[in-house]
Amino acid sequence: MSNKKNNAVDKLHEAYDPESFRKLGHQLVDLLSDYLQAAAKEEIPVNAWQAPDDQLAYWQQYEADPAAPLALFEDILKRSIHLHHPRYIGHQICPTAPLSALAGLVSGLLNNGMAVYEMGAAATAIEKVVVDTVLQKLGFNADASGFLTSGGTLANLTALLAARSAMVPSDIWQTAAPQQLAVMVASEAHYCIDRAVRIMGWGAAGMIKIPVGDNFKMQTELLEAAYQKAQTQGIKVIAVVGSAPSTSAGMYDDLEAIAQFCAQRKLWFHVDGAHGGAAIFSNRYRHLLAGIEQADSVVIDGHKMLLTPSIMTFLLFKNQNQSFATFRQKAQYLIANSQEQEWFTLAQRTFECTKSMMSIKFYTLLKIHGEALFDQSVTHLYDLGKLFAERVAARPQFELALSPDCNIVCFRYWQADRSNQQLDHLNHAIRDQILKDGKFYIVQTKLKDIVYLRTTFMNPQTTPTIMEALLDEIETIAKQKQNGIFVDG
Ligand SMILES: Cc1ncc(COP(=O)(O)O)c(C=O)c1O
Repeated sequence: MSNKKNNAVDKLHEAYDPESFRKLGHQLVDLLSDYLQAAAKEEIPVNAWQAPDDQLAYWQQYEADPAAPLALFEDILKRSIHLHHPRYIGHQICPTAPLSALAGLVSGLLNNGMAVYEMGAAATAIEKVVVDTVLQKLGFNADASGFLTSGGTLANLTALLAARSAMVPSDIWQTAAPQQLAVMVASEAHYCIDRAVRIMGWGAAGMIKIPVGDNFKMQTELLEAAYQKAQTQGIKVIAVVGSAPSTSAGMYDDLEAIAQFCAQRKLWFHVDGAHGGAAIFSNRYRHLLAGIEQADSVVIDGHKMLLTPSIMTFLLFKNQNQSFATFRQKAQYLIANSQEQEWFTLAQRTFECTKSMMSIKFYTLLKIHGEALFDQSVTHLYDLGKLFAERVAARPQFELALSPDCNIVCFRYWQADRSNQQLDHLNHAIRDQILKDGKFYIVQTKLKDIVYLRTTFMNPQTTPTIMEALLDEIETIAKQKQNGIFVDG
């Protein structure tokens, strides 16, 4: 009995020992710094592909050496995808600025809960500073306010909940909506908008999809007819969501046209800028967001284009009262005494109760590097997207899906004498081979039912030479694959 107890005490001592932390921490930072260098110099593959079941088996039977905990971290590194590798040109999540990752370590260790001020005093005040910085960039005035939340998906849901509170005359928090509600959104919008609508219980009728044109942007001239049709069906449209940009195609909706429509019809105007809202920092690309200053709510992810570790999202409201009206619950032990709109009681407005100290991940970058970092980063990555599109267009074996607005570029390997179905098979097989080879990381998507290879330039170290190497690699794989596919397909 007493041995067991001693053992437990020893384990606790071991787990909380500051000196072990110091030693391992130094080793870990060395390991991560070497890793960053190896990735930048392309000394490791961008991704060491393993089938999910093999990966699972590896970790199920894993035996760690308690005397050498660093080895465990080394193994995790080896078996993960490397976003800091210049050949990472895949999904929209950034290679973190290392300073911001260090802030993530501080957040992880301090673990301040953030729901109420006393459970995260510094990070709460810092949250207001970073939110105010972004509000100012958006061109919002002193009535505006916002907060940070855990991801674009949750932020979009929270924004639409706020829209619902503001737009439905009855008390929606107490009683069901008096009629079917709906939002209007481009057919290319991220799936989380559809999910939010269904979470709110509006079903399929709650999602009115506005078709996109050849440029993959919402056909805003169709908004009025869709609105009229909804009215005749007894559906109350409460909001229009603009994508800035859409996820698959990476095209920005015309926010000015949507803003004008919302103003005419007195609808809530929400901008899903999870990816490209960050362009407010770019002197060259800010114009893509013209009209955003008229939005009622805006979402911008830090972990996509603002260099912070996941997960960290800005949710911004033009009128702060509306953000306080979203959730009307009282939790005695947390927020019962806070009847007023307190900027520092975050749980009044956020979906989360406990949330991480995400503000410090952005603040450290802002204070140490300055806003110029975000201007340079967004501008450079968007420039890379445009350059890559030129390189694709210059090769006869490739077809560019559309001239890109940003760092998302969709294209396909192409041959004039092949059907779309054959080309779909071939491009799918190309992407599959690239994933397994681990020399590059790109993804694939479907635009208007055609399979495209999809790249997102997230890493500032991706060079024109790497772009050409990727296109060469695709041509080589295509030649190897095409016979089998065209015979079978
Ligand atoms: C336009 C858009 N909205 C929302 C999301 C979801 O954001 P998150 O992954 O932070 O939940 C994404 C993700 O790719 C996106 O591109």
